[in-house]
Amino acid sequence: KTYSEEYRPQFHFSPDSAWMNDPNGMVFYEGEYHLFYQYYPDSTVWGPMHWGHAISTDLVHWQHMPIALFPDSLGYIFSGSAVVDWKNTTGFGSAENPPLVAIYTYHNPEIAKAGGVDVESQGIAYSLDKGRSWTKYEGNPVIPNDGNRDFRDPNVIWNDEIQKWNLVLSAHDHVQIYSSVDLKEWTYESSFGIDAGAHGGVWECPDLFPLQVEGTDETKWVLIVNINPGGPNGGSGTQYFLGQFDGHQFMADSKETSWIDWGRDNYAGVTWSDVPKEDGRRIFLGWMSNWEYAQVVPTEKWRSAMTVPRALSLIQKNGQYIVKSVPVKELGKIEDRTMVVESEALKIDGEKELDLHGINLNQSRLSFEFDLGEAHPESFGLVLENDLGEQVKLSYSTSTKQFQFDRTKSGDMSFSDKFTGVASAPYDIGTSVKLELFIDAASAEIFVDGGDLVMTEIFFNSKPYSKLQIFSKGNPVTLNRAEIVALDSIW
Ligand code: FRU
Repeated sequence: KTYSEEYRPQFHFSPDSAWMNDPNGMVFYEGEYHLFYQYYPDSTVWGPMHWGHAISTDLVHWQHMPIALFPDSLGYIFSGSAVVDWKNTTGFGSAENPPLVAIYTYHNPEIAKAGGVDVESQGIAYSLDKGRSWTKYEGNPVIPNDGNRDFRDPNVIWNDEIQKWNLVLSAHDHVQIYSSVDLKEWTYESSFGIDAGAHGGVWECPDLFPLQVEGTDETKWVLIVNINPGGPNGGSGTQYFLGQFDGHQFMADSKETSWIDWGRDNYAGVTWSDVPKEDGRRIFLGWMSNWEYAQVVPTEKWRSAMTVPRALSLIQKNGQYIVKSVPVKELGKIEDRTMVVESEALKIDGEKELDLHGINLNQSRLSFEFDLGEAHPESFGLVLENDLGEQVKLSYSTSTKQFQFDRTKSGDMSFSDKFTGVASAPYDIGTSVKLELFIDAASAEIFVDGGDLVMTEIFFNSKPYSKLQIFSKGNPVTLNRAEIVALDSIW
């Protein structure tokens, strides 16, 4: 299939048809990256949840697989994770053929309808054929609900230090941590978050993993907690905390929230399990939408796409630790014709349109190196536009010290009054700055200075953007180098 419908992403994962939300059960095994996802095959809006499934050997090209998990008498299959049970601690497989184990939430619609609190519990299922078929454990649920609202999205990691599995799940306004020797019997360890972080909405889809601070021997644990609503620019968002974890308790360095992504369209993101040690990456994927309008965006056959996979790393910048994200290097495989502007540094005072030499902006990677000079411009940035006057604009303002992404004229916005508006992200800019944008049919992913700041935004332009303009107000800005790279379709 070529998937050439209007608004169909060409290098982002989207389902063949019907409704998709969160990425689930991301696990690497025997050369394959598995991506499961919240899926409702009978409609383009949310409904009784299944786990859809896709496989990739390179994180770029995806093969759609049959549905992996169907709802059953215990409920719908909500979000969760998957691991390789290398030591066969579950006994579901053998040491020679270790099982893949999925740990997910059961959401019981009957209890929900009756207004009960104990709607959700945790179950497991396993596969002995590289994720092709799944058997649910007869002892489900493995973590019953003893009175917790919004009790869901278990994420499991093998913890070498305690030689046990650890599980983190969300429980409305905090996360709970558990441990287990066999993935079947779980012991509650501790909670985190009632008095920390953002609380503008429900906590969902947590993830907990160690990252080494780049260039040092120091390791910190990262706790990702998605929140909806209450994100940094309204609706859904992904916060994280840094700290220590001893297998029992997470101790945050600070109670303040940091954000993985400041855009409006990166939600429910978590990371791949079992990426080989030699590779060493922590690879993140998010759902490229926002619950504020996800169910009404103007696509007909399917709804939603994922972000590009991103490698996370932990760095120290200006005395602060930050988790930065960069698109996985495998995306280089789809790079096609490249146009480079670098011969003479280009001084931009006002507006300057760049010649695209026929490259399709709507399926491209753009990268820019700006020199801000002695006197910073009041603002500078770039505009993508089509001949209908539809446009998206990325700008930086020196007075407010913010990047802004403006989609108020981006194209079709009639589907929701919550969609329009400008997203802002605080950023301390240096004397130079690098901007990289991945532009697909209906989205932009923006990486500032190699991923120190990220913004992901979707839009629905009725014709491809065909003009690229750089602008500067107040003082000039110098464009030292620009790269405009056409990207191939993955389908
Ligand atoms: C997040 C979420 C999860 C839940 C799933 C249901 O988007 O609300 O908390 O498991 O979606 O589809």
